[in-house]
Amino acid sequence: MTSAPAALASKPGSVDLLIDLAKADMAGVDALIVQRMQSPVAVIPALAEHLIAAGGKRLRPLLTVAADRLAGGADDNCLKLAAAVEFIHTATLLHDDVVDGSQLRRGKVAAHLIWGAAQSVLVGDFLFARAFELMVETSSIKALDILARASRVIAEGEVLQLTRAHDLKLSQDVYLEIIAAKTAELFAAAAEAGAVAAGAGDDARIALRDFGLNLGLAFQLADDALDYGGETAALGKNAGDDFREGKATLPLLLAIARTGEAEAAFWEKTIGRLEQTDEDFLRARDLIANSGAISATLELAAVYAGAAKQALRVFPANDWRAALEALADFSVSRRS
Ligand code: IPE
Ligand code: IPE
Ligand code: MG
Ligand code: MG
Repeated sequence: MTSAPAALASKPGSVDLLIDLAKADMAGVDALIVQRMQSPVAVIPALAEHLIAAGGKRLRPLLTVAADRLAGGADDNCLKLAAAVEFIHTATLLHDDVVDGSQLRRGKVAAHLIWGAAQSVLVGDFLFARAFELMVETSSIKALDILARASRVIAEGEVLQLTRAHDLKLSQDVYLEIIAAKTAELFAAAAEAGAVAAGAGDDARIALRDFGLNLGLAFQLADDALDYGGETAALGKNAGDDFREGKATLPLLLAIARTGEAEAAFWEKTIGRLEQTDEDFLRARDLIANSGAISATLELAAVYAGAAKQALRVFPANDWRAALEALADFSVSRRS
């Protein structure tokens, strides 16, 4: 096991330790990503590089690597799966920005605004296909099964969300079902695939899947809070996107319930009928913050982060476990 400075290990809510421990492995993952985004069709690497070179947090491949190492993996088997996981994530971002009409991603103009929606969607398909080639190369049907299922569930989550936009009375249960599918499933699969690469037994594999699922729920809850409470510059995407789309996220749903009759007409106009101005977003942001909906959303995120950390108790306390525990805290406290 790699040892790390105790100061790093004791810093909750930071990904520094994880990045430090996984540095060499992640260099391998990045090399694979750069190699496999190539194509003789020039627009493909150009468009892919626009997004990939902009960085991103690389949390999902970090999760695959860390899960593998925590479960006792010692070889490079997990690197291809980690690269595949990041390709799946990148593909969903290309598709998602077209679907959501988002203008900013990773601090850069969204790819569809440069190359158009058609090319953006097709390069997303290319990256999905590359992910599957990488998985096949590992010869692990089990990992292929986990990540194929995750890819299908993400699509289901995105479609389910579309059908529930503008629903001012969406239940918390359906909201959680949506974010579990569109976001948490890939975190769960990323961690589970790492366990599979390590040849872990069922208990360790299920614990890592459970960790990833709860982490992913916490991550998306925080993301939905940041859409009303965060800063565009730090996020690298525009705050307010969810409001402009009329997306029924938890901060909004809580604020609608809490502001009651007094604001019913405002929510019906801006979210129900999507008739809104820039000033309406500022007003919504204030109503949401003042109703305590942001803090309530983050409190629920903290509950899931706690459940994620709990799932790791089956493993001995070591640096990798500490790094994943800190990742759970980071998913709630993050600004970007
Ligand atoms: C963005 O995920 C999509 C969501 C699930 C909210 P990230 O915030 O992990 O995106 P990058 O990869 O760091 O840009
Ligand atoms: C995140 O969706 C999940 C996927 C991209 C599949 P969102 O639409 O909530 O995430 P952002 O805000 O665009 O990153
Ligand atoms: Mg989006
Ligand atoms: Mg969002």
